[in-house]
Amino acid sequence: MELRTVWLEGNVVKLIDQRLLPGEYRVFEARDHKEVGFAIAEMVVRGAPAIGATAAYGMAQASLQGRDLEEVAAYLRATRPTGHDLFFAVDYMLEAAGKGRDLVEAAEAYAEDSLERCRAMGQHGLSLMKDGVRVLTHCNAGALATVGYGTALAPIRAAKEAGRHVFVFVDETRPRLQGAKLTAWELEREGIEHAVITDNAAGLFMARGEVDLVITGADRIAANGDVANKIGTYEKAVLAKENGIPFYVAAPVSTFDFGLASGKDIPIEERAEEEVREIGREALTPSGSPVRNPAFDVTPARYVTGYITECGILRSENLHTLQDEVVGGRGK
Ligand code: MRU
Repeated sequence: MELRTVWLEGNVVKLIDQRLLPGEYRVFEARDHKEVGFAIAEMVVRGAPAIGATAAYGMAQASLQGRDLEEVAAYLRATRPTGHDLFFAVDYMLEAAGKGRDLVEAAEAYAEDSLERCRAMGQHGLSLMKDGVRVLTHCNAGALATVGYGTALAPIRAAKEAGRHVFVFVDETRPRLQGAKLTAWELEREGIEHAVITDNAAGLFMARGEVDLVITGADRIAANGDVANKIGTYEKAVLAKENGIPFYVAAPVSTFDFGLASGKDIPIEERAEEEVREIGREALTPSGSPVRNPAFDVTPARYVTGYITECGILRSENLHTLQDEVVGGRGK
């Protein structure tokens, strides 16, 4: 029943192919670092912590194949620019190599640790989940976006396990529909009550008093608490504030980038026009219309009520206390 998004078998990195869900469950096999890079760039795997674990396994695979680890690291780093976990994981593996560690063991330790951190987020977030709570979430920050269990969905899972009733509003999340396709698939599988809504419906449900809490994941969080997450997160945060609804961000320390003072320096990935222009084979725009497709936006810290981390729920002014955990965590 428990989902595992990425693992290593022999020297093949195996991944749930998230491009095919919810229609088909298929395992994608990445046989070298170029195929691992393809899987990340083309979103066979997506979600910041899942990308991090995939990169860790990709580095382990490269060591088994006797490749130049610095070259593979550079290749993987160039796949997706916004999520911090990718860079965190690659640095962790290079450090492990520098210490002479077995890289397969290091990648397994990284992935297990990442999973445990998600479970811990679930336990900390449980304090926010009253019986009957109605939560809105954006994109997919569930098991599929991590090694397993999820970040934003972790407190929701923990609440279900504790016997509490939870209802989840799932933003469909244009253009790639990670909410409609992936979050709904996970919730359906686990029997968690939910409804998929169009991205532009969130304001209506908030204004009607039908949303008690918003929880999203994050791709990168700057030192001041500004949060890069899936495009559309910012407007949900503004709507939440306008309607007096708490807005929480769930993320492990690997997502925090203390090297950036604020969110204005977070690189925002712009993806292919086709993601906006078409769904399947159906054209949604005139072929001559230019398209812009930023994949992420930045929510200023002032809109974030708190950060659900594996070390507890923190306010932006206390995030600096996580810095020791960042350094310690990488050293494990
Ligand atoms: O483009 P994606 O699907 O990789 O974006 C994913 C998100 O924005 C998630 O909310 C974020 O990575 C947190 S995942 C636990």
